Amino acid sequence: MRLKMPCITGSDRLSIPEGILDKLRRARRASVLTGAGISAESGIPTFRGAGGIWEKYDFTKLATPEGFKEDPRLVWEWYQLRQREMKKAKPNPAHETIAGMEDHFDEFAVLTQNIDGMHRRAGSRKIIELHGNIWRMRCSRDGTVIDLGDPVEEIPPVCQCGSLMRPDVVWFGEQLPHDVLDSASQAASRSDVMFVVGTSAVVYPAAALPILTKNRGGLVIEVNIEKTELSAYADLSLFGRAGELMPVLWSLIAQPERFMTEHPIIAKR
Ligand code: APR
Repeated sequence: MRLKMPCITGSDRLSIPEGILDKLRRARRASVLTGAGISAESGIPTFRGAGGIWEKYDFTKLATPEGFKEDPRLVWEWYQLRQREMKKAKPNPAHETIAGMEDHFDEFAVLTQNIDGMHRRAGSRKIIELHGNIWRMRCSRDGTVIDLGDPVEEIPPVCQCGSLMRPDVVWFGEQLPHDVLDSASQAASRSDVMFVVGTSAVVYPAAALPILTKNRGGLVIEVNIEKTELSAYADLSLFGRAGELMPVLWSLIAQPERFMTEHPIIAKR
């Protein structure tokens, strides 16, 4: 059976079909796939859509191995700028809600395409960073990895071996590390439910993870401000801001009594 309710808009109209709610409440294994949209309310811009990063910047110059080879200083200038921006940002209620979900399930993992480290700062522990982390750099020759607490100062940074360091992130045209993709695929294939929050779902292989959950009979619940590539096969798409919808959605699933008290108008509908 295909349960579908693709058009719920705003937290004031959050109502979930009983069949789906029942499955959500009985789920024991869950995962959350996140994208740039979850950090938008923390002030970190998304990549696509109006005002998105790839409207202003050329990804071929800034986020490809070829671009780095051509102009490592330019690439580092951009990453330094983003590190500064991300350092100032704080996790929002969507990150915090997801951190709070972890102990509720027998198995749980956050599969994030984001490199901003916000899930860890919000308190999530089981995090699979599909596209790396901006707070790490690695030697482009010997692979030495260095953790960064603060934005890089000297650019481009150089390894002890004399070669250039690069951001430890996955660029366009690069493969995700095998172990990372493997763990994410396993989590997705074991999930009774996957929440997909703030991603345009156009970049693969991350965008294929919800399909793994779907194929094993799990539910796919999308939270986004607008329709995406995923909406056609999600069991439920909730349209609204992640920072507003996630806390409400989660209290409806895990703390219905609290939900009734905090949202009496919605609960009555
Ligand atoms: N709440 C929920 N969703 C939001 C919000 C919000 N407040 N703001 C924006 N969105 C949604 C947008 O509608 C869009 O669908 O977040 C999504 C962001 O999409 P992208 O910018 O494409 O980000 P993402 O899906 O993470 O991109 C994947 O592409 O450029 C690469 O490596 C980069 O990891 C990134 C990958």
